[in-house]
Amino acid sequence: MKKSALVALAGIAAVSVALTGCGRTDPGTEGGDDAAGFAADASIGVALPDQTSENWVLAGDLFENGLEEAGFDGNVQYAGSSNAVGDQQQQIQTMIDSGVEVIVIGAADTNQLAAQLEAADAAGVTVIAYDRLIQNSDLVDYYVAFDNFHVGELQAQSLLEGLEERFPGQEPWNVELFSGSADDSNSAVFFDGAMSVLQPAIDDGTINIVSGQTSVQQTATEDWAAENAQNRMDTILQTSYQGIQLHGVLSPNDNLARAILTSADNAGLETPVVTGQDSEVASVESIVAGVQYSTIYKDTRALVAATIDMVSQLQAGEEVTTTGESDNGVTEVPSNLLEPVIVTQANAAEAYAENPDLEPLTQP
Ligand code: BGC
Repeated sequence: MKKSALVALAGIAAVSVALTGCGRTDPGTEGGDDAAGFAADASIGVALPDQTSENWVLAGDLFENGLEEAGFDGNVQYAGSSNAVGDQQQQIQTMIDSGVEVIVIGAADTNQLAAQLEAADAAGVTVIAYDRLIQNSDLVDYYVAFDNFHVGELQAQSLLEGLEERFPGQEPWNVELFSGSADDSNSAVFFDGAMSVLQPAIDDGTINIVSGQTSVQQTATEDWAAENAQNRMDTILQTSYQGIQLHGVLSPNDNLARAILTSADNAGLETPVVTGQDSEVASVESIVAGVQYSTIYKDTRALVAATIDMVSQLQAGEEVTTTGESDNGVTEVPSNLLEPVIVTQANAAEAYAENPDLEPLTQP
């Protein structure tokens, strides 16, 4: 809690602390230092990366409305795409200077916020990492996300199921692997989750990575940019797939999945099994039409609601809801991890039944 606010709110804070009996109430964590009870109409900063996926756009709108409904003064900012890291660093500093109590950060680069977290700590601002875990800092107070390792596991399981479904009896299946941007700590977590399922299938010869590119570095997609995935797929098809069918591709998200499918289509291949993530409108349509094989549903409404709940718990000085801890390289960050859902043509209607934007796409 900020010292100035503490003085101003001494009366309220005293009552709140007396009622709750303590300051920070989550047990046994090193990450945090502050945060128990602040003004009910406090300013809350939300710093989101550039809008590389629909979920970021939706999150911004939901934070604007949800924070206001919860009585807070929300300040939502996106980093621009040309200088996203610098923009975000600047935006966070400005939020701290303006007196926010909490900053929710969807990091543009999960390794480049050290100075901003120092400044937040000095000002007594609580930092919640949103969706992407900020690395190598013991000043991240909380992390709210979907279980990203499980996202990767689900993607890989659906890839194997899809291969069996679309190309039965054609083992070894020819497969290529894609991972996300190296500046996003989620990329390696998704990939590790997927490889925990795929490595045994590579080892026993069920799938064959024809390009031989199997590390997270070799498979990375800079900036999560669709054109980078399409270029890499084009190159691999030209160099390794002359006269060979590509059966499947591990794609870490929908935006890249559609680029990969375009590349395979341009090469005149039978549609390979391609995974995804985010339940983007164009990909849900593609899945329903039988083209993209799967996606992951990470309901952004649930993630934003869980984050705002956390802010409200901090405001009230209540115990913060956590499901466990996540290792960011130097510390275990108290985390609230939600469960992702795998979606294919078979369960799309059921999976999106409660989502008014996506459910209509699943109807014939
Ligand atoms: C998010 C994904 C998203 C990707 C690109 C990741 O950190 O978890 O949902 O597809 O960033 O924006």
